Amino acid sequence: MAKIFYFIVVIFFCFRAYAQESRQSLSLIPQPLHVEQHKGSFKLDGSVVVQVDEANPELLKLADLLVQGVYDRMGLSLKRGKPDGKGKSILLKIAPDTLSDEGYRMSVSGQDITIQASKGNGIFYGIQTVYQLIPADYRGGAISLPSLSIVDRPRFGWRGLMLDVGRYFYSVDYIKKYIDYLSMHKLNVFHWHLTEDHGWRIEIKKYPRLTEVGAWRSGTNFQPGNNIDHNPHGGFYTQEEIQEVVAYAKDRYVTVVPEIELPGHSLAALAAYPELSCTGGPFKIPERWGIQEDIYCVGKEEVFVFLENVLAEVVELFPSEIIHIGGDEAPKKRWSACAQCQKRIREEGLKDEHELQSYFITRIEKFLNSKGKKIIGWDEILEGGLAPNAAVMSWRGTKGGIAAAKMGHPVVMTPTSHMYFDYFQGEPYLEPYAIWGHTPLRKVYGYDPIPEELTTEEQKYILGVQGNLWSEYIHSPEHNEYMTYPRGAALAEIAWGSPENKDWGDFKRRLEEQYKRYEQKGINYSRSAYQVYFEVTNDAPNNRSTVNLLTDSYQPEIYYTLDGNEPTLQSNRFEGPFEVPIHKTVRAATFKNGQKISPVSTRSIVHF
Ligand code: ACM
Ligand code: ZN
Repeated sequence: MAKIFYFIVVIFFCFRAYAQESRQSLSLIPQPLHVEQHKGSFKLDGSVVVQVDEANPELLKLADLLVQGVYDRMGLSLKRGKPDGKGKSILLKIAPDTLSDEGYRMSVSGQDITIQASKGNGIFYGIQTVYQLIPADYRGGAISLPSLSIVDRPRFGWRGLMLDVGRYFYSVDYIKKYIDYLSMHKLNVFHWHLTEDHGWRIEIKKYPRLTEVGAWRSGTNFQPGNNIDHNPHGGFYTQEEIQEVVAYAKDRYVTVVPEIELPGHSLAALAAYPELSCTGGPFKIPERWGIQEDIYCVGKEEVFVFLENVLAEVVELFPSEIIHIGGDEAPKKRWSACAQCQKRIREEGLKDEHELQSYFITRIEKFLNSKGKKIIGWDEILEGGLAPNAAVMSWRGTKGGIAAAKMGHPVVMTPTSHMYFDYFQGEPYLEPYAIWGHTPLRKVYGYDPIPEELTTEEQKYILGVQGNLWSEYIHSPEHNEYMTYPRGAALAEIAWGSPENKDWGDFKRRLEEQYKRYEQKGINYSRSAYQVYFEVTNDAPNNRSTVNLLTDSYQPEIYYTLDGNEPTLQSNRFEGPFEVPIHKTVRAATFKNGQKISPVSTRSIVHF
């Protein structure tokens, strides 16, 4: 009897180990709300038909997208057809559901895959999940997708990435790629920073000089410090190109939120139309980065005429309900010295230049509201009084976001501390030049967009979270991708994933498969997560330290030396924190499959 009991116990544990093993083989990013794996699998081969209600044009488009996506990943051509309950199928179906507008239910069984959602958005996200069931390093032959059920929906409705095309111009083709990459992470907002001191990038028919003059500069501050290349740089998007981008994004369920900066970061516009400034100019588009003192004059009515004309064209191009009006980093020096700005302050009964900025933003808000749009601005728009219907993008930490939410205004969290992807992501001495700051993968992943200071009621005003990519020192698509991914995957996980499922260790495991997806798509992702960083505890009285070696990668194999030599597979294998005498230098690197996959990190042990 006892033997049988033990036999059953052994079988049970073997089965459980097997079940866990097979569960572990999924590498979905972002992690869905609920996943249940079942026995069996779905063989994905040429007999599979993608079935949709052919009377629904949106579903037809999604079916074609899936067919193309499977072809791109496997070279396998699936047919499209009507639901017929026969044969092996992938069924895409719209049906009322209690999940959010973007949620979906998915099941994979031996006979079919069903993706069901109340809107096309959810179907699109279900399709992204199907792609992630296909091994990223597929090299041909039959594949079986594991049987499972998924119930999924995003935590936040605003899951954004911002790209600054003012400091560096990215082509339409690249913008489309950027949007494609964003959507594969189930992100849904592309915040397009279209105007800057250093370049105006959107064609405005009424003001051709904005792009004739404002889109071009004579040189670029290519590295921190006084490093100017004197190579002319520029470019802009025609209105037709913008429409093309917006349509491309719409097919990927991405909203394009344009940013037209005011009252600051506007020197490119002032170079084209100097009469819109306080001093009258003339101006040259600067080559060096930095905050500019010349901004739009609030005293002059023609500034409002100009901006309203510009925005009237902008709202026609972008279906987004929200328009970003900037509002950050507007020095008040010119306004303080300008007779017309001062006259405006007196006439409007304003207290100071901060209230003047609030007057400016509120007038612009009123205009955009009249066009059926809402505004969002950087958190400086809180200074001098927040415009009545404005949303706030909290970038200087979380204080602005907390204040706005407490006042009942919508908020997007993008604090520099966690969400600035132009900051270093690895050890700065091992990284390409970055502007400053440090937002490694672990820090991005560790961020919770809901500040603790908010009550449950106030938390509802947090629309979501966004990563920002400022381009001062990011001057190629490759470098852009290097800075964006895999931090964009960590962003996706916190923007979409629910806090209960948050698991840094498992995220690092799943990321190994995500890297392969990046390779398959040709995304130049950063391998900085393999870099070793040091945790050192000093024991000064005994002239020694305890050193821990860490990375942002999954189960890293780390080798190190204490004799100054490059670590190799013959060096010390790191098994846990170890003691090092003072004045020694630790050199460490990560290895995989016998190859060194990180640069060598170095730390000298000194006591202060
Ligand atoms: C910003 O980074 N100036 C919003
Ligand atoms: Zn003025």
